[in-house]
Amino acid sequence: MLYFDGKQYDRFMQVASPNELPFYLDLSKHFGNKVLELGIGTGRVGLELAAAGCTVSGIDLFQPMLDEAAGKAEKRGLKLDLTCADMSNFDLGTDFDLVIIAFNSIHHLLGHEQLGGLFSCIKKHLRANGAFAFDMSNLSVFPSGDQVEEYMLRKYIHPENNKEVEIHIRQTYDPLQQIQYMAWSYLQEGKTIRQEQVNLRVYAPQEMEGYLKFNGFRIIGKYGSFEKADYELTGEKVIYVTRLASAQA
Ligand SMILES: C[S@@+](CC[C@H](N)C(=O)[O-])C[C@H]1O[C@@H](n2cnc3c(N)ncnc32)[C@H](O)[C@@H]1O
Repeated sequence: MLYFDGKQYDRFMQVASPNELPFYLDLSKHFGNKVLELGIGTGRVGLELAAAGCTVSGIDLFQPMLDEAAGKAEKRGLKLDLTCADMSNFDLGTDFDLVIIAFNSIHHLLGHEQLGGLFSCIKKHLRANGAFAFDMSNLSVFPSGDQVEEYMLRKYIHPENNKEVEIHIRQTYDPLQQIQYMAWSYLQEGKTIRQEQVNLRVYAPQEMEGYLKFNGFRIIGKYGSFEKADYELTGEKVIYVTRLASAQA
């Protein structure tokens, strides 16, 4: 899913809401500016938080993404503390005011063990009065049946040869495992230049809220958009702001 090349990822990723960054910035103003971003990628969000004065640490599983983030930080004279690790199994030996997972990254955790590992790592790294916030795609965004679907997802301009790349998807959905299986094909001038498998776990909000509760998190905000619209079943997103259940009100 473009995590093999941070520059291509940035070309591809031009769809985020303009209110995403203000949303996370507000949280840092409220809860504190020592921030950990899990799945930080190329620093799309983390770098802007650092530019606004936050102390930002980031974790990502894919080194090319971190390399791009580090390069951009250096160019802008910003500091990011980056670690290549799995967000469901890490130990940074310090704690944070705010932990965030931006842009649907939580869907990469496919099973109970990974999600359980994520929550226990966050608990270890979150200050008693800190907050954990993340967004995920809403149910309406995922296929609901087990039929095969094929479509062109998006086009972007390749950063090296400036030619258009088209991403074509062939997907199925396993409703028992709640996993969307996608074969991604990258085409340039009609020729396939890369193929990869991308699997995403679909989390129903009700299910995620159970995970949060039984892992010791209390939901203090649930939104359907970064403008803080009410959550709706037909909307594109679910955004949660949570605190440790033990945190003072
Ligand atoms: C959709 S991208 C979002 C990146 C960035 N947060 C943003 O908003 O642009 C998902 C990110 O999660 C990372 N990722 C996927 N699985 C991961 C895991 N198990 N642990 C840590 N990072 C992971 C990917 O490398 C990628 O950078």
